[in-house]
Amino acid sequence: GRVAVLMGGTSAEREVSLDSGRNVLEALLSRGVDAFAVDGIPALIDAIRAGSVDRVFNILHGNKGGGEDGVLQGLCEALGVPYTGSGVLGSALTMDKIRTKQVWLSEGMPTPRYARLAPGADVHAAASELGLPVFIKPSSEGSSVGVSRVLVEADLDAAVEHASRYPGELLMEQLISGEELTVPVLLTADGHVALPSIRIVPKGEWYDYNAKYIADDTQYLCPGLEGTDEDEIRRIARAAFVSAGCNGWGRVDFMRDRATGQLYLLEVNTAPGMTSHSLVPKAARQVGIEFEELCWRVLESSLD
Ligand code: DAL
Ligand code: MG
Repeated sequence: GRVAVLMGGTSAEREVSLDSGRNVLEALLSRGVDAFAVDGIPALIDAIRAGSVDRVFNILHGNKGGGEDGVLQGLCEALGVPYTGSGVLGSALTMDKIRTKQVWLSEGMPTPRYARLAPGADVHAAASELGLPVFIKPSSEGSSVGVSRVLVEADLDAAVEHASRYPGELLMEQLISGEELTVPVLLTADGHVALPSIRIVPKGEWYDYNAKYIADDTQYLCPGLEGTDEDEIRRIARAAFVSAGCNGWGRVDFMRDRATGQLYLLEVNTAPGMTSHSLVPKAARQVGIEFEELCWRVLESSLD
């Protein structure tokens, strides 16, 4: 049947998604899949109504018109169209970094300390309780959109204002000083399996939007850790993914404290980037899964 590669949309990650989507479409076509591009959820509804969609490959990033917050998943469920990636619950939960942390904490899984900033919250009081430095993030964005590092109190208000441009609550999160790591999870015949971790070494202070998609001087090490440390991060990634109700494929992001080696969970991405700079394709390649094969396997994992 025909596969709609859903991309674009109206979220802050539109451009990233178009880039990911074009790569996925090309890969599926080269594997002989009858696939076509669809830009955004309203266009997908039209295509489904026209009877031209048998399956959806979801590579629409973000929330509010993006494909990662459970809305698309509910639509597909209601219309009986199979789709790649997590279902309603896992998508909706992990689009919200704050609620995801609450679930992990309830299971004793490690994540940086945080404060939830509802509108009108006293951010200075929250910062002094948590202790600087912190990150200020929109709770439900991706690609580091709206994120600031706050080292001194004087920068707090500007960071809150910046993050407030995006929908939803704000997350104030303890800054873990150390390395940023990420682990893809993929559904295989043996169930959900963690791929090798990737350690990200940005040229600047942290892995921001520029380091993610624009700069060519970000370094990636894969596997990111050695021996039992690598086993441990993969074990936690898989457990974190499953405990957040996710399935199919995704990517779990971490920080590792430089001084103690302690791992901290940051978030799950349920429709991870598939751009030429993106991480899941790098980890897959490390275990001999080329990009076309990766896209094929993700498609195969779609719920039926
Ligand atoms: N949110 C971006 C697309 C990622 O996680 O790769
Ligand atoms: Mg993300």
